[in-house]
Amino acid sequence: MLPEESRVLPESFEANSLKRSSWGLVVTGIVGGTLVAVYAVTTPFITPALRKVCLPFVPATTKQIENVLKTLQCRRGPLVDIGSGDGRVVIAAAKAGLPAVGYELNPWLVWYSRYRAWQEGVHSSAKFHISDLWKVTFSQYSNVVIFGVPQMMLQLEKKLELELEDDARVIACRFPFPHWTPDCVVGEGTDTVWVYDASTFRGVKRAPESRCFSSRSFK
Ligand SMILES: C[S@@+](CC[C@H](N)C(=O)[O-])C[C@H]1O[C@@H](n2cnc3c(N)ncnc32)[C@H](O)[C@@H]1O
Repeated sequence: MLPEESRVLPESFEANSLKRSSWGLVVTGIVGGTLVAVYAVTTPFITPALRKVCLPFVPATTKQIENVLKTLQCRRGPLVDIGSGDGRVVIAAAKAGLPAVGYELNPWLVWYSRYRAWQEGVHSSAKFHISDLWKVTFSQYSNVVIFGVPQMMLQLEKKLELELEDDARVIACRFPFPHWTPDCVVGEGTDTVWVYDASTFRGVKRAPESRCFSSRSFK
């Protein structure tokens, strides 16, 4: 009996340890895969906080978008949202009839924006690019929307002043530009938007009727 037992025991022991090691592999694969997936999804949301200028993803409120759209009422030409987040401003502008483009660093937000634009039926007029806003030239845009942070507004002011045409309009959400004087302020509190016409910050004379609004501030 003993010799036979000694032949069987090692085999079942071997089978058991094989089973255990393949379970170990499966568990390691699942844990590893989950960690990689969590890392891949969260990193693009965390890295903006580690950049020199921290510009996190904070979506525009419905009121904020309404205010932006008011300032675009009689505008034509392409619009850009700088740091387009989940695409809500670009999609709203496209629905209002403007060809609109968003530049966004976070690829997940860009893919989601493209999906939302398709869902809302505006994918032909709402486009999204995965790009660093500091590496894009905005000269081709007539309407520029930015929901930034105070630390970046001076640098962006200089960039836009160099790049935009005289008939362009810049709309700053929540935080104004430091040196430009707004042509108009819409809304209040965190939903405030400041409107700057390039002709004004460049000091170019323009006929009053070419302006979209007559008062400096309207609700
Ligand atoms: C305050 S959120 C505004 C989102 C959107 N414009 C809105 O109003 O709902 C700023 C966005 O800029 C993006 N961002 C941060 N740094 C960027 C960069 N260097 N280039 C492009 N996008 C950037 C962030 O990922 C974030 O989605």
